[in-house]
Amino acid sequence: MIHEPSGKPIRYVKGIETECGFKEVPPEADAMRSVLITGTSTGIGQATAASLAARGWRVFATMRDLEKRRLLEQALKEAGVRDGVEMEQLDVTCAASIRSAVASTLLKTGNKLDAVVHNAGVAAAGAFEDLPDAELRRVMETNFFGVLELTRALLPTFRVQRRGRIVIVSSEAAFMGQPTNSIYCASKWAVEGWAEAIAYELEPFGIDVILIEPGPYRTEIWDSTPRIQPAGSPYHAWVQQVLRAGDAHAAKMARDPREVAVVIAHALETRRPRFRYPVGPFARLNHFLKGKLPSRLLRRVTTLYLGLSRRPIA
Ligand SMILES: NC(=O)c1ccc[n+]([C@@H]2O[C@H](COP(=O)([O-])OP(=O)(O)OC[C@H]3O[C@@H](n4cnc5c(N)ncnc54)[C@H](OP(=O)(O)O)[C@@H]3O)[C@@H](O)[C@H]2O)c1
Repeated sequence: MIHEPSGKPIRYVKGIETECGFKEVPPEADAMRSVLITGTSTGIGQATAASLAARGWRVFATMRDLEKRRLLEQALKEAGVRDGVEMEQLDVTCAASIRSAVASTLLKTGNKLDAVVHNAGVAAAGAFEDLPDAELRRVMETNFFGVLELTRALLPTFRVQRRGRIVIVSSEAAFMGQPTNSIYCASKWAVEGWAEAIAYELEPFGIDVILIEPGPYRTEIWDSTPRIQPAGSPYHAWVQQVLRAGDAHAAKMARDPREVAVVIAHALETRRPRFRYPVGPFARLNHFLKGKLPSRLLRRVTTLYLGLSRRPIA
């Protein structure tokens, strides 16, 4: 609450409290539905920003490196989107960056926000025993703690307005362990367990928590993921075999990320969203099989599908 010099509270000025004091909000703000998306420089985040803007959303497209904004600008141009997207710097592993992006967004919207899409994500490939501690923590900081920190920053707004959708781009890796992908799987299982639990707490406030679980999609994640294969590792040959099989699987199965964007838009716009959306045939099949087949059998089928050896490889 702000006051006149006389001490009388001023109620009609829209604005928000920031670390630098009170900031007034322009009166034209907040007419459209608004969403903040993380990791919009490439891939699913980029496709989602373009898709939601084209559907009339006011999109706060965030990325950790604003130098990459031209990638999103190009995608928006190709999608015929001329306005509705505002870009903000946001690194989900940096609390100060989260605070600043949230403050800046709420300042522009008049302290309102309809939804957040937690999309930013990273992976690290390799046998668990070979993965450096820094890699384990980088993946958990981004895919798990980043989601928690940003959610915490937005919950006061969602609670006060008694409305809000928290969409988390998880993965089919959240319900099936994948060889050489242990820390990524762990991060997505962790975020799903957390999401299932907080859904109870947030429902009374009218806040929906929604999981999007894509199978393989053609994005930058395949190229940007470090492949940890130290020479002399007892896993070296096996990891190489898995990565080769994984590349062949992705080349054959990976689909257009705009498909995921369509599902995210549905989850944001439908009156009663489901909690979980497996996306793509592979994710839907694996989701269906989970819990129906014994885990050992599923592992055997995956091992055969990837053409992997079940014995140590010299
Ligand atoms: N592609 C798939 O097959 C697939 C399948 C299932 C789930 N997913 C999930 O989909 C989401 C999007 O991934 P993608 O496939 O679209 O891969 P992508 O093209 O690599 O996009 C990942 C995005 O996350 C951003 N990012 C990484 N670390 C960040 C950080 N600390 N702060 C803010 N942004 C950060 C990246 O930014 P930079 O450009 O700066 O690196 C990039 O914009 C991820 O959560 C991923 O786990 C993908």
